[in-house]
Amino acid sequence: MNNESTLLKVSHLYTSFHTGSQQVKAVEDVSLEVRSRQIVALVGESGSGKSVTAMSILGLVDPPGFIDGGEIWLRGNNLRECSTRQLRKLRGTEMAVISRPHERAESGAFGWKTDHGDDYPAPASHWTGSKAAGHGADAASRP
Ligand SMILES: Nc1ncnc2c1ncn2[C@@H]1O[C@H](COP(=O)(O)OP(=O)(O)O)[C@@H](O)[C@H]1O
Ligand SMILES: [Mg+2]
Repeated sequence: MNNESTLLKVSHLYTSFHTGSQQVKAVEDVSLEVRSRQIVALVGESGSGKSVTAMSILGLVDPPGFIDGGEIWLRGNNLRECSTRQLRKLRGTEMAVISRPHERAESGAFGWKTDHGDDYPAPASHWTGSKAAGHGADAASRP
C-alpha cells in the first residue's frame, strides 16, 4: 500500500472459470483503488464481471474458478497471500458483501471499514482497465 488513505487496491486482476476444455475469462485486467471515505459503484451489463470481481476480492471464488493473476491489498493485507482462516477473519470485520433484492436494481454492495471506524458500503476512487468478460464493466464514483 503506497498511500495511507488507500483502503483497497486491486491491480491487474484476472479471474477465470476452467470448465472442461473451456475457459471463461470472467475478469480481465481489472484495477481499482478505494480510499477512505469514498464510494464507488461498478456498473456494467449482466455478465460483465461485477460479482466475480467482488468475490475475487473477498476470496470467495471456488473451483473451477481461479484467480489467474493480479494483486489485491486491503490495508496492509496481501489478500492473495492470506490463508483461508485469515480471509474468514477479515470478512465481516474489514470487508463484507451485502446482498440486495433484485427488484431494487442493485445486485449487491461490498464495503470496507474506514480509518475512523465508519462503515461505507462501497467506497473507491479509481477504476481502470475493465475488460471484464469482454463486455466493458464501468464504474461511477463519488467522494
Ligand atoms: N461459477 C461459474 N462458472 C462459470 N462461469 C461463471 C461462473 N460464475 C460466473 N461466471 C461467468 O463469469 C462472467 C461474469 O459473471 P458475473 O461476475 O456474475 O457478472 P455480473 O455480476 O457483472 O452480472 C459471466 O460470463 C459468467 O457467465
Ligand atoms: Mg452480479
